Formats: sequence, structure tokens, C-alpha cells
Amino acid sequence: MKKFVCRFPQPATSTPIYCGSDILHQCLPADLYGKYSSVLAVVDETVYRLHRLLLSSTLSGVRVYRFPSGERYKTHRQLFALLEWLMSNQADRRSLLIAIGGGVVTDITGLAASCYMRGIDTILIPTTLLGQIDAAIGGKTAINYKGIKNIIGSFHPPRLVVCDQHFLETLPRRSIKDGLVEAVKLFAAYDAESFARYSARIAGLIKGEGLETLVADAVRLKVEIVNRDPWEQGLRRVLNFGHTTGHAYETLTCSSHGRAIALGMLVALRLSRLHLDLSAADHDKIGEAILSIYRRYNTNRVTPQTLWQKIKHDKKCVGREISYILVDKPGSYREKPITYQQFKRAWYDTREWYSR
Ligand code: GLY
Repeated sequence: MKKFVCRFPQPATSTPIYCGSDILHQCLPADLYGKYSSVLAVVDETVYRLHRLLLSSTLSGVRVYRFPSGERYKTHRQLFALLEWLMSNQADRRSLLIAIGGGVVTDITGLAASCYMRGIDTILIPTTLLGQIDAAIGGKTAINYKGIKNIIGSFHPPRLVVCDQHFLETLPRRSIKDGLVEAVKLFAAYDAESFARYSARIAGLIKGEGLETLVADAVRLKVEIVNRDPWEQGLRRVLNFGHTTGHAYETLTCSSHGRAIALGMLVALRLSRLHLDLSAADHDKIGEAILSIYRRYNTNRVTPQTLWQKIKHDKKCVGREISYILVDKPGSYREKPITYQQFKRAWYDTREWYSR
């Protein structure tokens, strides 16, 4: 089992994050709940069905809210349903709220916990690859609103995060691919060594081979980034590589998060080639790693204009500038303002490149 610690200042909080196989019971000792007035859990309904046995002791004596699976439930309606459920169960300031599920469940539960009575404790048990390497790490919470991803949210560091590999064994391939895209994003923009190591193993990772080491490496790097820039004033923005175009594409086409971010990274790579010193060889190396996860994209469903309109509403847009995270070589990123004309050219070039 590996342990990492995510630290937040003001108020000083540290979150232990445990990664390993079959570690849930070890990480949630029986006396943990004793210091809380009540314990409640929000559990993804598919996870609840598939892992009832594994969760039986974690959920023993705990009130459970079964949360519907899917991004379309990351809404203000579901947030208020959760808050009402906390009220009707007389949760108080000393209650603990546990989230068990993918990024949707950990994000929305974290947000409910951060506003309920101005903040109650949470424990996150991410059950998807994407949740384990990204969404549940770093204290962000959110819901989507009016077609904008994660536009309402907060920072609410959890008390504990447990990334148990056991949950990954039942994941469908498409869900593994969604998580792999986030791993490639992190490695390509931040850590050349991990990029070289893992980009050579993508076919095996898609089949579920070696995920435990991947999760530990990705969590280690993300914790390093968050500890250096918890409030996303600079360095943490590296994690937005591929997300500017990706979020807009995801919302407009209802594509999976992974496929949308993969396309967003391809566009960012093209922009990096056009406006930074990214070499053709490095462009193709990172691009091929992305295409080995998702090869096809339905780009006929959107135009550069509709995407740009959406991008302008993204929370990463400040004033009139659209700031893009680009890469100048594997493991090294730069932030650059991009105009519509530059985006449009990169969009069409990208389509041509991956369809060749
Ligand atoms: N998912 C991006 C971040 O945590 O900053």
C-alpha cells in the first residue's frame, strides 16, 4: 500500500491518500466512525450493486443514498436532493459524509459536504480510474450548470481518500480509457519519464494490466502539483491540458469525458506545434499515444464557431483571452493566449492529422 499526503493551507489540512489492492478495510478502521455524531454515504448505484459484499462493513450502520450513475446527474437538482437528504437524516456539523463512486459522485458529494452547515467532513472512495487519478485528488468539488462543466464548485479537502484497485476490476474498457486519457494528459504535460514509461504500455493498460502502479504514479505527481499550487494560481493549471477545447466538445456532443479530452489534447498539440517549439517528432509521439486510446472522433457534429462560443464561457477563460495549456516537449508545458483564428486553423489541421 502506498500513502501520499495532500496539504492545504488556510485552514491547514492534510489529506492522506492510500493506494493499493484490497485496502478498504485497513484504511477505514472500525473506530474511525466513533468520533462522528452520524455517518452517511453517497454510493453510485452501479458500484453498490457490484460491490455490496466488499462494502458491507464500510457501510454497516451507515445511511446510504444510492446515486444514479452518469454525468447527466451532476446537477443542481441532485445537489439539492442530497442536501435535503442530509437534512431529513438530521446530519449535523459533526456528521461524516462518505462518497463512493466515480468523479460525478465524489465531486457532487464533496460540494454537498462543503455547503451543508458550512462544511462537514468527507471521505472519498473513488471507484473509477479517472476518479482515482484525478477527480478525487486535490480537494475540488463541483456540479455542471447551464451546459458549463464544473462551473459551480468549491475547494473542500476530504479527510481521507482510499484508491482501492479492487473497484477497477469490474470497470468496462470505456471507463478505463477515460481514466487513461487523464493519465496521458498529466504525464505528457508534466513528467517526461512517466510519459515514456506508460505511453509504451497503453494496450496492456486498456486491458487492465498494471493499473495499480499507474494509479500510484499519477497520484504521486498530482499530489506534488496540488501541494505546490493548491488554489490553482499557476502550476495546477497544467492539469487543464486538453480541457479547454475538450470540455466544450464534451458538452456540445455529449461525448465521453475521455474522448473529449483526448480530442482537446490533439488540438492543443497542434497549437503547440504552430505557436511553440514542439517538434514534429514530439507532436506525433504524444499524438500517437492519445490515438492509441481513442482513434475516432465525430467532429462533423460541431463547428469551430460553436466550440469557440462554448469555450468563451469556460471558467478557465478570464476576460477576452482564452488561455491554453500547450506543451513544448513531453513533460514541459507553457500557457498561451489563443485567438479564434489560431484555434480555427488548429481545429482543421487536427482533423486532417488524425484522419490521415
Ligand atoms: N482536475 C483538475 C484539478 O484537480 O485541478
